[in-house]
Amino acid sequence: MAPANMPAIETAGLVKVYKGGVRALDGITFQMSPGELFGLLGPNGAGKTTAIRILATLLVMTEGSARVAGLDVSSKPREVRERLGLAMQTPSLDAFSTGRETLELAGRLHRMPSASIKRRADELLELMGLASVAKKLTGTYSGGMKRRLDLASALMHCPEVLILDEPTEGLDPQSRVALWDELERISRTGTTMLLTTHYMEEADRLCTRLAIIDNGQIVVEGRPDELKRSIGADTVVLQLAPDQRAAATQRLGDGNGGRSDGDGPTGAIERGPSADGQVVEVRRLLEGIVAADAVAAHPGGVTLSVPNAGTAVPDLLRRLESDGLRVSGLQMRQPSLDDVFLKYTGRRIREEAADQPILLGW
Ligand SMILES: Nc1ncnc2c1ncn2[C@@H]1O[C@H](COP(=O)(O)OP(=O)(O)OP(=O)(O)O)[C@@H](O)[C@H]1O
Ligand SMILES: [Mg+2]
Repeated sequence: MAPANMPAIETAGLVKVYKGGVRALDGITFQMSPGELFGLLGPNGAGKTTAIRILATLLVMTEGSARVAGLDVSSKPREVRERLGLAMQTPSLDAFSTGRETLELAGRLHRMPSASIKRRADELLELMGLASVAKKLTGTYSGGMKRRLDLASALMHCPEVLILDEPTEGLDPQSRVALWDELERISRTGTTMLLTTHYMEEADRLCTRLAIIDNGQIVVEGRPDELKRSIGADTVVLQLAPDQRAAATQRLGDGNGGRSDGDGPTGAIERGPSADGQVVEVRRLLEGIVAADAVAAHPGGVTLSVPNAGTAVPDLLRRLESDGLRVSGLQMRQPSLDDVFLKYTGRRIREEAADQPILLGW
């Protein structure tokens, strides 16, 4: 066991340039304490798998250094492998082995004594809810069951550090939530965990601390609540009644430079000029209470970025409605990790993938 005060994982200036010149990691530095559940959150191609493969001694870094459980991954790869459990982005299970055989093989690869292998396999099959299918071929398992079995394989030798690359990618929402429960339970037993994900909700729910990674660099790091608080404002989505949107556009077209580029009145309401018109109109009405750059276009209305929205909203509505703008709907939400990503990168992480189940075949 690494001493309690030693980082469970630490990297310094990790750089990876693949053959062909892709700079997948561009100086990644982070530290994880024992017992932490740390996340690397980033969009496709950010460099997450590259970082994981280096830490798991499957890939050689170009520059920098990395230690797992206090051991240098370059000079002590065998010792590092003994101390970590790894579940990769795509589970590589033998479709013609049963669940139990898969776990027993993992135990033998880690040179565990036979009696421990049997005991540990029974324990993990039970814990992962796989006892009833232990004798079935893994090829017949659902995507969620394959992920749970892969996780059980990684846990066979009771590793000090568990590294998971996109543990729930491709799962339907229900299986994803079930796996989150499982990961939280494992974390509560004191196992140090590093996971990568591009699902913000996953990082938010599971990670005690996370680093947002983009283009091979860490853009910001902290606890999820701390990162969200750093946004300093809630988001208010205002739906504007259609006639009012038309009126706003019309007023702008009449007086202060709204676009009139031949789209005709109907087109102007439906497309860009209308959205711009609403934003300009709302900015004008809320001048002095809400900063101009806190108002942005939104389908059917506008969004406002407002500190303490719960208290501020009644005033804002009075101001808007006193000038004849009719608000037909209102939604408030606290900042998400997506807002954090936007703040630091100027882009949004694509979230829609999280809502679309991808069925894993075999
Ligand atoms: N073997 C390789 N050879 C060359 N380039 C690679 C190789 N593997 C990855 N890359 C490139 O390195 C960058 C980082 O890839 P990586 O797989 O680490 O990203 P990721 O964050 O895991 O993405 P995803 O969310 O899609 O899994 C990408 O531009 C990718 O195309
Ligand atoms: Mg990846």
